Amino acid sequence: MPGERIRIALQKSGRMADDSLNLLKNCGLHMARSREELLCRIKELPIDVLLVRDDDIPNFVSSGICDLGIVGENVYEEMRLGSEGFAATILERLGFSQCRLAIAVPDGGKIGSVEALAGATVATTYPNLFQAFLRRHGIAATTLEMTGSVEVAPRLKIADAVCDIVASGATLAANNLREMTTVLASEALLIRSGKALPPEKEAVINRLLARMRGALRAEDSKYIMLHADKDKLPAIIKLLPGAESPTILPLQGSADKFAVHAVCRESVFWETMEQLQAAGASSILVLPIEKMMG
Ligand code: PRP
Ligand code: ZN
Repeated sequence: MPGERIRIALQKSGRMADDSLNLLKNCGLHMARSREELLCRIKELPIDVLLVRDDDIPNFVSSGICDLGIVGENVYEEMRLGSEGFAATILERLGFSQCRLAIAVPDGGKIGSVEALAGATVATTYPNLFQAFLRRHGIAATTLEMTGSVEVAPRLKIADAVCDIVASGATLAANNLREMTTVLASEALLIRSGKALPPEKEAVINRLLARMRGALRAEDSKYIMLHADKDKLPAIIKLLPGAESPTILPLQGSADKFAVHAVCRESVFWETMEQLQAAGASSILVLPIEKMMG
């Protein structure tokens, strides 16, 4: 057993693998990444990374093989519904790797509404979520459980519709399928084992969580600096997206010109900069923020 080191399960390869590793990197955590190795040590904190298939992550965390995991909400919910005594819980919603589980039907086909799924055969790798959807809508349909490539099922005439993950929509479009309704909106989750851990481990988890929150917040935030005349300041400050009490500093050698510095907690778009300029701001600088805490 791993002593007092935390063990976190991450996807080995696939949609979420790069985003998950990137988050660890933004938390100042580095591991020797050899895809061959199942277990990688992190130098900076007592954490070991287990690289596995995403479908295994919820049960690894639920059973205590791992203390933490980063997994898509789609996989988490499917496994939660399908495993008795499931004991992993959501510690934090991470916001990245967004996608949705959706019902899609052949473009121009006979199924035009959710109600029309009654009696149809639907191919999916998410039988539990799909059946919960059917129960919510009071519809009876047949589930064709597959392990992959469900998008080809309608063309092979083995299903009338699919219940599958959609991210960009490219897979559906390539298979002449039309998205009809969302079953579950999904994002990356940090999950943890349901049981209380030794205090040393809980402390490491808290440190990791604080770093993750800081890294994710910094990603969306910008530091903005600009110059403006005193009488223009109220209008300009109102335009700053998600800024809390900016710093206002007098500019050297000018009685009524000021510099405004602010942390904007939302994206700063070109449109925002154009509006600031129109409101009288000049020398507008938008800088990335690397880390945030407190
Ligand atoms: C999903 C889904 C589609 C594709 C959709 O597979 O099954 O094939 O992604 O993405 P798109 O809308 O951007 O085209 P996923 O990558 O999750 O693979 P997996 O089911 O094997 O984990
Ligand atoms: Zn998968």
